[in-house]
Amino acid sequence: MRDSLLSSPGSLAVAATPAFAFSGLFFRRLPAWGEADDGQRDGDRRSGRICAPDGANPWQEYWGESYGLELKQWMLTPVFGMLEAEGKIGDLVIDVGCGAVPVTGLLKATTARKRILVDIASDNAESAEAIGIRLDAEEAGRREGLACRKALLRACAFLAISPRTEPRTELADTIVFSEVLNYVDFRKVIQGFSVFLKPGGRIIVINLPFRGNASLFSEKGLKENRQLYEFLDEHDFEIEFKAFPKRPARETDESQEFLLLVAQKPFRSNRIGARSC
Ligand SMILES: C[S@@+](CC[C@H](N)C(=O)[O-])C[C@H]1O[C@@H](n2cnc3c(N)ncnc32)[C@H](O)[C@@H]1O
Repeated sequence: MRDSLLSSPGSLAVAATPAFAFSGLFFRRLPAWGEADDGQRDGDRRSGRICAPDGANPWQEYWGESYGLELKQWMLTPVFGMLEAEGKIGDLVIDVGCGAVPVTGLLKATTARKRILVDIASDNAESAEAIGIRLDAEEAGRREGLACRKALLRACAFLAISPRTEPRTELADTIVFSEVLNYVDFRKVIQGFSVFLKPGGRIIVINLPFRGNASLFSEKGLKENRQLYEFLDEHDFEIEFKAFPKRPARETDESQEFLLLVAQKPFRSNRIGARSC
């Protein structure tokens, strides 16, 4: 049989499927930046940040519309602007663990740009420029698994390509992991999604080890920034940009700081994402 997007890549390890505590809670819809602020509805603003209301459920508090919108906007807008100016974002963007208000909504909308918004709690909403896909991000590397195959079918329909005849998997220009790597096996998730990243494409990571709902963190989540540098280095990713926007002036240790990182996938590699099908 001819290899296609739905064929299983022989080089990827079969991963176990973790049960996920919050997978029953879905977004209400996919809101956009600049719309009436859901954080206002779900919480109130105190001392410049958006807080969850009393009695909010844990998903809303840590993952919902009220989770750190202004902080993300402040951190990401300049970096997105810099990458856009250099033509480095591209047309196909995947937002992994996108949450209720995907940070990729801060990117410029263009006629060519499409966003694939993956989250374990996605409501699967769809518009002309973005599609929500409910998927455990740890399943992305298990292309023979039902969850991944279903997700690929929806993504291909959205992109108007045939999963049966499309031989390439490396379709995405940029993949964003914003505040999700604490909750998942970060190596498995980056590796799984990198198969869908073009050679020379970029990943953008925002993460603060231990920020969020600790009871939901993965044992294999990102515990300190050096683990990420090592992993990227092992897989030939080049770190192009690294910033610690919340680091106190005198702090020299960066391992536990809020990290904003951009890394480029190698054009040629024998390792991560090297085999397309
Ligand atoms: C802290 S929120 C971050 C949301 C958004 N990316 C942001 O920066 O505001 C973490 C998100 O990761 C999602 N998530 C957690 N574990 C996941 C998994 N295994 N697969 C996919 N999404 C997951 C949650 O549903 C939640 O929306």
